[in-house]
Amino acid sequence: MKRSPLISLALLVLVAAVLLAAPAMSQQDMTTVPTEGFQKTTRLPVAFAHDAHNEKAGLTDCTACHHGEKDGKRDNTADTAGIPCSDCHTAVAAPGKTPLMRAFHRQCMGCHMTQKKGPVTCGDCHKPAKK
Ligand code: HEC
Ligand code: HEC
Ligand code: HEC
Ligand code: HEC
Repeated sequence: MKRSPLISLALLVLVAAVLLAAPAMSQQDMTTVPTEGFQKTTRLPVAFAHDAHNEKAGLTDCTACHHGEKDGKRDNTADTAGIPCSDCHTAVAAPGKTPLMRAFHRQCMGCHMTQKKGPVTCGDCHKPAKK
């Protein structure tokens, strides 16, 4: 049976839409950690080639960074990959909650210090991203 031209056209539009949306959803192109959650910034955005970093560091478990929330507490079993940290950690946080800058610093530097690998000084993170 031959497909109607209308259905073929609909399929073509769908395929095009998926292809166009792909780069926006991919973290492969990420070269710096986004700063959208901060009202103003005083430092250079942090150089962070998402996929290359995680490959070098041997991080295959997304929850190593993208954890979730359960009953107001951190849930390390929930995978929130793709959700910005700032959805849960605001620049100015409620008492007892971790504000955005501290969330990033604790997560990034925390691991680098435990593993004794990766940058721990200001200028080694807040620097121009590699092209
Ligand atoms: C391991 C990497 C790392 C190190 C080391 C680090 N930072 Fe950051 N910092 C981040 C990340 C990630 C963010 C949030 C995203 C961004 O700014 O690109 C951030 C955000 C900030 C912000 C808020 C955003 C802005 O630009 O105002 C300030 C201020 C800041 N860092 C200062 C410092 C200072 C001062 C030091 C050294 C004492 C330092 N950082 C060391 C990773 C790092
Ligand atoms: C070393 C920490 C780390 C690991 C491990 C990690 N990510 Fe991320 N990822 C980040 C950070 C930091 C951001 C930026 C968060 C923000 O915008 O607040 C991010 C953003 C993303 C984004 C959004 C991209 C964009 O352009 O907005 C996606 C999708 C994503 N990560 C998927 C994954 C997946 C899938 C895995 C596991 C295979 C993973 N991440 C593992 C740190 C990590
Ligand atoms: C779905 C919500 C949610 C998302 C998304 C999320 N977190 Fe959290 N995070 C929490 C909750 C809840 C806690 C525990 C309460 C608190 O400290 O604010 C927590 C705690 C933390 C802590 C522990 C602070 C400490 O003092 O030990 C760090 C570090 C952290 N988050 C970093 C991040 C980073 C970096 C990202 C993004 C890659 C992120 N979080 C994404 C909800 C979230
Ligand atoms: C769970 C552990 C872990 C976390 C979390 C983590 N890193 Fe790393 N990072 C590493 C390791 C391990 C290395 C060293 C990799 C190697 O052998 O070169 C590294 C290296 C780096 C390097 C230098 C190598 C490169 O890719 O350019 C940068 C920059 C860096 N990390 C930034 C960050 C930032 C920014 C964050 C937070 C958003 C972060 N890291 C979170 C483990 C981690």
